[in-house]
Amino acid sequence: MVPRSFVVTRTRQDTRDTATLWLTAMDGAPLAFEPGQFTMLQAYGVGEVPVSISGDPADDGVLQHTIRDVGSVSHALATAETGARLGVRGPFGVGWDVGTARGRDVVIVAGGIGLAPLRPAVLEICANRAAYGEVTLLYGARTPAERLFTDELPRWAAEHGVAVHVTVDRSDDSWRGPVGLVTGLVDRVVFRPELATVLVCGPEVMMRHTAAAFLDRGVAPADVRVSMERNMKCGIGLCGHCQLRELFICQDGPVLGYGLVASLLTQAEL
Ligand SMILES: Cc1cc2nc3c(=O)[nH]c(=O)nc-3n(C[C@H](O)[C@H](O)[C@H](O)COP(=O)(O)OP(=O)(O)OC[C@H]3O[C@@H](n4cnc5c(N)ncnc54)[C@H](O)[C@@H]3O)c2cc1C
Ligand code: FES
Repeated sequence: MVPRSFVVTRTRQDTRDTATLWLTAMDGAPLAFEPGQFTMLQAYGVGEVPVSISGDPADDGVLQHTIRDVGSVSHALATAETGARLGVRGPFGVGWDVGTARGRDVVIVAGGIGLAPLRPAVLEICANRAAYGEVTLLYGARTPAERLFTDELPRWAAEHGVAVHVTVDRSDDSWRGPVGLVTGLVDRVVFRPELATVLVCGPEVMMRHTAAAFLDRGVAPADVRVSMERNMKCGIGLCGHCQLRELFICQDGPVLGYGLVASLLTQAEL
């Protein structure tokens, strides 16, 4: 439960309300993680919240987080400046388990800030690209200005053969791409339903509709993995804040097979 002290070494304002922080441990020890895991990130004197790791799993010397400013703690984190000290516990939870998708087609579907928890999975796949079949990224953002990692999307396509499709809810004069929900892109994906692994992160309603679209195309519920967000306090299965029926999202998740959570996703009050 005791946080390690990290220092912010670099910041980047990604969009109007979202920033990425690069952090290094004050004790110099590495922080190895699996794509999809999160840390409990503490702004001293303000509070602590769960945030997924958005960096490269091959680089355990730098911890990267991409944070959307939605309230008091995320505001303090997203506006932290170079040199600021933050507390870090973790990494915690079960991630995307990308290695089990080797030999299969992989479809990655992100909505909004959901691309941040999926970025480490994309980087791991790109680093071992020959081990995977068709790899596709479907990404939906509210507006063109709210897209994340815009410098990397074309690189993943050009250098690693990832089929990247981006859509926005609302267009502007600069936008020439598709407009509409990310589920509208599913028909563009080339994949073998019986040999596909689908990784989904975004708002629950988006995850539900995306999972349904892939189930309709013959993918098994267990092969669709979603990342669940719940209030968390301890991050290690002690406090019960994240409990969803028999599941402790901080330990059993945040990434879970859709077959396990499908019925829970439809119950808004849980
Ligand atoms: C496993 C896990 C991974 C996460 N990864 C990330 C990440 O990589 N980047 C990131 O920015 N956030 C991430 N979150 C969400 C983040 O933890 C919350 O945004 C944060 O706890 C909000 O705390 P706050 O004190 O800033 O706002 P609060 O004061 O708690 O909330 C302020 C307002 O924002 C609303 N709100 C709270 N959370 C969210 C949310 N997720 N989306 C939209 N509105 C919300 C609340 O309902 C309230 O109206 C993750 C959450 C979990 C459980
Ligand atoms: S956050 Fe405490 S049990 Fe999951």
